Amino acid sequence: MINVALPKGRLGEKVYDMFEKAGFPCPSIKENNRKLIFENEEVGVRYFWVKPSDVAIYVERGAADIGVAGKDILLEYNPDVYELLDLKIGKCRMAVAAKKDFRDNTDRTLRVATKFSNIAAKYYAEKCRDIDIIHLNGSIEIAPILGLSDVIVDIVETGKTLIENDLIPFETIIPISARLIANKSSYQFKKETIEAVRHSLGEQVSE
Ligand code: PRP
Repeated sequence: MINVALPKGRLGEKVYDMFEKAGFPCPSIKENNRKLIFENEEVGVRYFWVKPSDVAIYVERGAADIGVAGKDILLEYNPDVYELLDLKIGKCRMAVAAKKDFRDNTDRTLRVATKFSNIAAKYYAEKCRDIDIIHLNGSIEIAPILGLSDVIVDIVETGKTLIENDLIPFETIIPISARLIANKSSYQFKKETIEAVRHSLGEQVSE
């Protein structure tokens, strides 16, 4: 049995479709209910729907053998897992954004609001820029509007949230996409199955 942590939501549905095509169907997952665990004993697969930011925790601790997590989460939390494949879906970017009239005054510490404190800290450390991190858990775009921060470091997908909140993306930190990850010991013990999954998913990846 292979245990797979899927990120709940639109991305997770796309990911499940890829696993189904790869030979790991589990039709009951499409039923409209609130169950979080689905199993198909015949093909030997068990799926769990988990919060996207928690996938790496399940995989790192071995509750799931494999899973699909965003590169943003992998960079932020640096879990001890193998990153096996870039699925090239769930594409977005990590960016610095601010109000239109923002000009960086390097005499002052830059106030940065973000959910991604480690990514932001590393980015500004490389630029030798002093910052004060304001860690928030969501709705980051509000911070510069209310004067809580000078800039934000956040995910930009369509750019709509920034536009609708009168913010401008100033710099791209890194492009992001969904990655197939594996627990390190599962990879040793279930190598054949995990490699078969990687191979079949790889065949479905397009630029
Ligand atoms: C993410 C991100 C932005 C938004 C970007 O938020 O933090 O707010 O999506 O998408 P867009 O460029 O397509 O508008 P999410 O939906 O995860 O919510 P939260 O960060 O506010 O919790």
